[in-house]
Amino acid sequence: MEMPIPVSPSFSPGCAHILWTRDEHDLRRIVEDDVQAVICVVAPLPDWVVPLTLAVESGRLSIPRTVLPNHTRDEVEAWFAEFLPDGPVAPDVRDSLVDDILELTDRLAASAGVSRFRLRIFTEAPTEDCGFHVDTVAPGAPPWGLLRVYNGAGTSFVEPDNLGSAGDFHRYLDRRERLERDRRTALEAARTDDFERVAREIAELDAARSFLARPEEVFEAPAGSIVAFKHVDLRFQWTQDAGPMPWVHCSPMRGGRRLVVNVTSPEPMRPPHR
Ligand SMILES: [Fe+2]
Repeated sequence: MEMPIPVSPSFSPGCAHILWTRDEHDLRRIVEDDVQAVICVVAPLPDWVVPLTLAVESGRLSIPRTVLPNHTRDEVEAWFAEFLPDGPVAPDVRDSLVDDILELTDRLAASAGVSRFRLRIFTEAPTEDCGFHVDTVAPGAPPWGLLRVYNGAGTSFVEPDNLGSAGDFHRYLDRRERLERDRRTALEAARTDDFERVAREIAELDAARSFLARPEEVFEAPAGSIVAFKHVDLRFQWTQDAGPMPWVHCSPMRGGRRLVVNVTSPEPMRPPHR
């Protein structure tokens, strides 16, 4: 029996909302102003994801944090041909993964009319470095992108109607970033007491979720799903009125190693192909 997918509780025409779907064609709806994110649940996952997951979780497949900042589809493909290690997974699994990632670039090209991409990829266990946040794009670039987490814990997010004021969220972000800097400084200086105090403050800040109207209400985009979501233009990151609301989300803080891929474009936006 197919697992039911959630229905956005905030759905009402004209308001920002999150669309859950099983139909990959719906990912294109991210171009709509009132669609903040499209979460496409892929179930069952294709067979090649099983050996991929085993290779990532065991550490056999290891990809350091990498950003391809401004690459065409062909250049992305060439990068994988050169740098995706040969051996940790069977050639057919490797090919399926590369095809799948190139499909993410194709989806962005189709929705935004771009031909250059910023691709971020890594295999890593979750950390506590980053709380709820929004992702940014270069000035003038299409304010959306795609995320696929292939295994492990999914991505937490909140519904747009759960957010308080932009000011509350910016205050949380600002404090979280300052505390994270303090934690790093304490770690580098081996000041254990300071490190533990700051870590406690971060945990309390994250638990309180003071920027939410309903702090307990957090959803999760499961691993394997493809998520198209609104980003914020860097120029407007800290302004109160930045156009369509970006997706407020948080990576998991615990769990095993995951393979994560993000695609946006650095290219100025042309009119979307609707
Ligand atoms: Fe993010």
